[in-house]
Amino acid sequence: MARINDNYLKLQAGYLFPEIGRRVSEFTTANPDAKVIRLGIGDVTKPLVPAVLEAFHQGVDEMADAATFHGYGPEQGYDWLAQIIIDKAYKPRGVELKTTEVFISDGSKCDSSNILDIFDLGNKVAIGDPVYPVYNDTNVMVGRSGNADDKGYYEGLVYMPCTEENGFNPEFPAEKVDIIYLCCPNNPTGTVATKEQLKAWVDYALTNDAIIFFDAAYEAFITEADIPHSIYEIDGAKECAIEFRSFSKTAGFTGVRCGLTVIPEELLGTTEKGEKYSFNKLWNRRQTTKFNGVSYPVQKAAAAVYSDEGWAQVKEIIDFYMENARIIREGLTAAGIACFGGVNAPYIWLKTPGGMSSWDFFDKLLNECFVVGTPGSGFGPSGEGYFRLSAFGERENVETAVQRIKDKWGK
Ligand code: MLT
Repeated sequence: MARINDNYLKLQAGYLFPEIGRRVSEFTTANPDAKVIRLGIGDVTKPLVPAVLEAFHQGVDEMADAATFHGYGPEQGYDWLAQIIIDKAYKPRGVELKTTEVFISDGSKCDSSNILDIFDLGNKVAIGDPVYPVYNDTNVMVGRSGNADDKGYYEGLVYMPCTEENGFNPEFPAEKVDIIYLCCPNNPTGTVATKEQLKAWVDYALTNDAIIFFDAAYEAFITEADIPHSIYEIDGAKECAIEFRSFSKTAGFTGVRCGLTVIPEELLGTTEKGEKYSFNKLWNRRQTTKFNGVSYPVQKAAAAVYSDEGWAQVKEIIDFYMENARIIREGLTAAGIACFGGVNAPYIWLKTPGGMSSWDFFDKLLNECFVVGTPGSGFGPSGEGYFRLSAFGERENVETAVQRIKDKWGK
């Protein structure tokens, strides 16, 4: 009989969001008339913008004609899309890249997991706590860890607590590591790193021979002018960082699927024999073997995000979600609930009222206010006592949710 990958058995419970879904569906089955407001998983609620839809439709129409039909595309994505991304998203911030350094994919969740393929299992990994659960779980799945302890920390992984005391900015790892995950703007805490803080990380990585996995999936939600959108805005980052980006939240592509990973040519690792080798070459080898690229119409749609018209439309929606974030943050703060984030990210990280545990607050919020959020402890032990609300939602729902929370816990 075939052996299973036992590493999966080390994982605790189910993946966070399906577990939330299960509890919500149990509640709605028992209470069919309850008007439940979902601010849990960060899933967009606005449809694709007109410019993107038009390009998407055009792409589909081209597939209907033998003269313009597209079969397999390049596994790395079409050059024209990579060039548009470089010109519109990187060059204006002073970052020069080659199209061969930009790999188009079906999303940054997949890429930030699949990237582990090209790193030796012996590498020591540091992740934030709390953190986007994918980083932790995928390292457990590939066998980089032992079992979890009572608190939920896996043996062999290095955790960097992000607490109110350190402003939710991870401190440098307590021991020598080879890979450091940074998510900025942060999921779940909604906090960001300044240029100085990011420069300190780049300097640290260069000095300590470590590579940074920089997840910038929420960069489009940054509102403060001096916050970096890309780690490559920092000198030296091309020698020590891989960057992940996504069209999901930026342009409503959670159901369409498109993202990208940047691996600069300068980024090198070592072979078993100690020779230097390019991670860009390895990723190219991995993608061309295991991935057949993103569909042509989706890439057409993604390119339209960066047309003048498309960007103006997309920006309007981002602003709409960020106004939701302001309403949640200011509403709950006025009610005496401590809130963090929500200024440069679509997530508000709040301290549970009365020191309730994250899951107790989840259950109370669902059962008594009919509002769904995400328990902070689901993102890691240091998230206990905290809770995440997403700003993705319709205005009326967001206002109603805030009012219900105020009525229940407001001072
Ligand atoms: C979240 O709610 O944290 C995100 O939607 C999850 C994701 O992007 O995969």
